[in-house]
Amino acid sequence: MKIAVAGTGYVGLVTGVVFAELGNEVICVDIDPAKVDAINKGQSPIYEPGLDELLQRNLEEERLIATTDLAQATRDCEVIFICVGTPPTETGEPDLKYVDAAAATIGRALNGYKIIVNKSTVPIGTGDRVRRIIEQHRAEPHDFDVVSNPEFLREGSAVADTLNPDRIVIGADNPRAAMKIVELYAPLERPMLITNLATAEIIKYASNTFLALKISFINAIADLCERTGADVVQTAKAMGYDPRIGQAFLQAGLGFGGSCFPKDVQAFVHTVQRYGLDPTLFEQILVINDARPKQFVARIRERLGELSGRTIALLGLAFKPNTDDIREARSLEIIRFLLQEGATVRAYDPVAMPRVQAIYPQITYCRNAYEAAENADALALITEWNEFRQLNFERIRNAMRQPNLFDGRNLYDPQRMRKLGFYYYGVGRAADNSDDKTML
Ligand SMILES: NC(=O)c1ccc[n+]([C@@H]2O[C@H](COP(=O)([O-])OP(=O)(O)OC[C@H]3O[C@@H](n4cnc5c(N)ncnc54)[C@H](O)[C@@H]3O)[C@@H](O)[C@H]2O)c1
Repeated sequence: MKIAVAGTGYVGLVTGVVFAELGNEVICVDIDPAKVDAINKGQSPIYEPGLDELLQRNLEEERLIATTDLAQATRDCEVIFICVGTPPTETGEPDLKYVDAAAATIGRALNGYKIIVNKSTVPIGTGDRVRRIIEQHRAEPHDFDVVSNPEFLREGSAVADTLNPDRIVIGADNPRAAMKIVELYAPLERPMLITNLATAEIIKYASNTFLALKISFINAIADLCERTGADVVQTAKAMGYDPRIGQAFLQAGLGFGGSCFPKDVQAFVHTVQRYGLDPTLFEQILVINDARPKQFVARIRERLGELSGRTIALLGLAFKPNTDDIREARSLEIIRFLLQEGATVRAYDPVAMPRVQAIYPQITYCRNAYEAAENADALALITEWNEFRQLNFERIRNAMRQPNLFDGRNLYDPQRMRKLGFYYYGVGRAADNSDDKTML
């Protein structure tokens, strides 16, 4: 099949590359010429494990090409995926300007029957909006269908998720269009659900909101654990053995960031309100999440006293491991609070440092965790990259001015860290520093 993919971000590029890998001819389109150039040279503009290799193979075998010309790509293909960004506006509602612009270009270029597949995360009713825009812009009355095909990939494992999705949701009001998209995905041999447009649009928001709810739920339990001397890691583990609850997304910590959960929950709140329903349940997910970075910095302050003149080392800046994405990353808020209070910040992240440097040039970026720890009064784990699991903590402790460890992701064993001579704080973990001899 000949496919155009508008938008070459995390969703669009991975989708395009995977469809090419399945043997389709794919035209990847972006309005950013730098991204298009990089892709045509075999360099992915984003970091995703396995993506460069797949991209290069499909370029070499001439199944994939990138361009800035969406109109030409529309004329050349029967199926056009819209994978452009839908960032939040100031009110928290998704900004649909990129979707609208792509739809208008597709409409103007319509030269025969096309299926326009919306993969961007968009509010309920956007499928109809895209249909109206195309109708308004098409020069001749060519037939077309709009399909909603929400994306569930996770950054950091986007290629693997796209090759092996849990489920494929295809929302279409016309069965003919739905069957064409079923055909496209058939080689993956994964469960497919065919729904109407509105259902597919709700499935995406309901799924992300539920996952965010699990995270905020366990963080609310973590707060109670801290007050009562209970341990949230054991609590979550015991809860998770119940198959109706499950272990996934029950890790207490700094909460969620990234380009999806915060924006999608906000958008869902707006949608629920727009339809005259009570959004309180969904609003609380954000209230709990928003409080996490401030609360974490407060724990550091409680330990160190004034933060002014103190040096804090941060391990991990990306919003989660295996990505260079820093959108809504907890690190950004934490750095903001630390700088506001006069602390000196040193940081290390395996891939996300250049992006943070563009926002915070005034902090020190280090070559590894050990360099970050040098002369620090506290070390704070922000993103649980795998390489932070097996650090030489004796070396870290010796490098620090004071051995204070703030584990924002509950990655480490508190007993072990205390035995190694650290004051250890984990989110919602029993604060047993009774044999603490590190207080200066
Ligand atoms: N990132 C994720 O993990 C993820 C997962 C599931 C769903 N989503 C959703 O998918 C959508 C895209 O997310 P992303 O993270 O890939 O975004 P992104 O910001 O990484 O990429 C979007 C790309 O679209 C390009 N673009 C904008 N207007 C265009 C146009 N008219 N024609 C061609 N290209 C255009 C931009 O230049 C950019 O490269 C969003 O709605 C997002 O919510 C994202």
